[in-house]
Amino acid sequence: MEFPFPTAAVSEGAANLLVPDVPRRKGPGTAGPWPFYNPTMAMNRDLSAIVLAKWPHPLGSLLDGLAATGAWGIRIALEVGAKHVAFNDRSRDATRLIRENLRRNRLTADVHTGDLSGYLVEPRYDFVDVDPFGPPAPFLRAAFSAAKASSGIGITATDTAVLCGTYPKACEKRYGARPLRSAQGAEIGLRILLGYCHGLAAERGRRVRPILSFSAEHFLRVHVLVEPGSASDSIGHVVRVGAGRFIAASGADRGATGPLWLGPLGDPAVMRRLQPSAWSSVVSARLLSLLKAECEMPPFFVTTDELAAGERLPPPKLDRFIGGLREIGYRATRTHFHPRGVKTDAPPQDIVRMFRALSPTGSTGDSGPAS
Ligand SMILES: C[S@@+](CC[C@H](N)C(=O)[O-])C[C@H]1O[C@@H](n2cnc3c(N)ncnc32)[C@H](O)[C@@H]1O
Repeated sequence: MEFPFPTAAVSEGAANLLVPDVPRRKGPGTAGPWPFYNPTMAMNRDLSAIVLAKWPHPLGSLLDGLAATGAWGIRIALEVGAKHVAFNDRSRDATRLIRENLRRNRLTADVHTGDLSGYLVEPRYDFVDVDPFGPPAPFLRAAFSAAKASSGIGITATDTAVLCGTYPKACEKRYGARPLRSAQGAEIGLRILLGYCHGLAAERGRRVRPILSFSAEHFLRVHVLVEPGSASDSIGHVVRVGAGRFIAASGADRGATGPLWLGPLGDPAVMRRLQPSAWSSVVSARLLSLLKAECEMPPFFVTTDELAAGERLPPPKLDRFIGGLREIGYRATRTHFHPRGVKTDAPPQDIVRMFRALSPTGSTGDSGPAS
């Protein structure tokens, strides 16, 4: 098949793909004249294949809603064994390329050319993937309206500067929530996105159950199950009261962050069963292992940067600090959100005492729990 742009054959996961052979920048993609392919998003697709392989509901039919080259849907068909993956993109060049890529991978599928929101007029799919350039918000109302009684939605957001606090006014306008530019900005951004999903589900008498959510490089990603029922106690505002410390606040408080999803970012029972596949990259496997380790920890985390600044002491090695907290009986783990972040259920006074005790120039006194 001939295309009006240069092409290159690549392999990603189990898929062999023909993609536009155009110069690529690192980071988020922007719309260009040719169908979009970003190899750095392979990690996103790796994690989708991993979680959909253990999805808690049958996946009779799936839609790669903003499919570009079809990379996501083709990988899901090949790696998860999903029998009915359909593809949609409004670009005719993209849907021609998707047909070629299906042929190369010996797959057959419905391929639709058109606007995603216009296409999602009735509940047809058990899972819809929404992976746009930038904000997913314009597509989500349609995706939630077209959700079956229990169906899944995968959402990628690359508008991280908005969700994670660099542009708070844009976040209020787009997601109706106040973000917070801070070490915890990515976790807050992810929770704002889930809170927004919760609102769309609640408008339809449904609730969202996050199955796997994470932040990576330049994007946020959630996989949610939309189910009948309500879960309003998972939404709230918080205010920052110290290093990595957030407490519940009223939405009327002008300094409050939110509304946010304050429930779990994933389903621990599902997450415990997730395994990297033969096609997952080392980076994806490492991310999965961090996500599994932190999935039952409370929201938010503290960084040794914040503690070092507050205590005016050099930080201990992260593993030593985490080990110290565990030795005195608390749960503590690294977090994928920040290279120097620690999720723990230790109270603030014991976090600070352990930090001081283990700081290379700190006190070596008793590091047992504060009474
Ligand atoms: C970031 S790319 C998708 C990348 C793809 N999911 C992947 O994994 O490689 C976004 C795609 O959405 C398509 N698109 C943008 N607006 C659309 C709309 N309103 N309806 C359908 N497709 C749209 C673009 O043509 C583009 O191919």
